[in-house]
Amino acid sequence: MIKKRILLIGPDGQVGLQLHACLQTIGQVITAGWVQSPLPPMLALDLTDHQNIRQVVAEAKPDVIINAAAYTAVDKAESDSDTAMAINATAVGILAEEALKRHALLVHYSTDYVFNGKRCQPYHEDVTPDPRSVYGETKLAGEQAIQTVGGDYLILRTAWVYGLYGSNFLRTMQRLANERERLSVVADQIGSPTWSFTLAQATSQILNLYYSPFCTLSKAHMTGLYHLTAQGQTSWYGFAHEILRYSQQADKLTAITTEDYPTPATRPAYSVLATDKIQTTFGLHLPQWQQALAVCMALRG
Ligand SMILES: NC(=O)c1ccc[n+]([C@@H]2O[C@H](COP(=O)([O-])OP(=O)(O)OC[C@H]3O[C@@H](n4cnc5c(N)ncnc54)[C@H](OP(=O)(O)O)[C@@H]3O)[C@@H](O)[C@H]2O)c1
Repeated sequence: MIKKRILLIGPDGQVGLQLHACLQTIGQVITAGWVQSPLPPMLALDLTDHQNIRQVVAEAKPDVIINAAAYTAVDKAESDSDTAMAINATAVGILAEEALKRHALLVHYSTDYVFNGKRCQPYHEDVTPDPRSVYGETKLAGEQAIQTVGGDYLILRTAWVYGLYGSNFLRTMQRLANERERLSVVADQIGSPTWSFTLAQATSQILNLYYSPFCTLSKAHMTGLYHLTAQGQTSWYGFAHEILRYSQQADKLTAITTEDYPTPATRPAYSVLATDKIQTTFGLHLPQWQQALAVCMALRG
């Protein structure tokens, strides 16, 4: 396989950090993001600056653009919708335009929060989205911007991302369990906890297949919208219980309802994503969420 030029946007986020490591076998990774981050990127990029986005793509001359950056503060977005829309939608449309101009592949991550959560069976890609939060609306607008521009793209909707780095549920639960005697966690929202490494590894496997000279699938067959999470489902309480079981702190937990824990943004009650399309198309085997968590916990030590 000829090594590709990969523009990785948001290399210091949870998913971006893992991608940076996983993409090295596919090509030369050119990072772009905030300059003030602990791991300074190669190119300075602020996604609210549209001209800056175009300049960065022109400079990087990528074959692949991977956008791992986003406005991910779900509750803050309720009162900061303009910024969330600029980053999660407008910037994404510009990336799609730039990718199309260069005939580059655009890989972009979206969210289970595009759904209203009223179902009780996994969401397939063809279910009509109906976001209930500003974050969900802006992420859906980002998906639509890419689809309107067209070109070669992969939109990978994921959910409940955690990992060893960054701000996430796993790290918050571990910190709180060390600080407090009791922890109350919502037990009536159901989803699929997904390790950031699972996402990065799957993305890398997909790109390997996409660019393989031995791949018999057409680009048209491979590009499009996919759901990508670990398999299985649980509640936030169930996820916290499994995390704290490793440190014998699970007995600190109390199950509560969404009503008991009001937040500015409404979250879907049920947002499990069906992953059969991505697994079948690309021959992936996605782990059960508990298996992935076990490996992550072992690495954490
Ligand atoms: N986290 C989840 O549970 C979850 C669930 C479903 C889908 N997703 C999606 O998965 C993708 C990756 O999420 P993640 O959890 O890895 O997010 P993350 O850890 O919050 O990382 C997002 C990155 O984007 C950067 N960023 C924010 N605004 C920017 C701007 N204006 N210009 C340049 N960079 C900017 C952030 O920098 P700073 O941190 O310095 O601001 C950060 O490095 C996103 O598309 C997200 O919507 C995440």
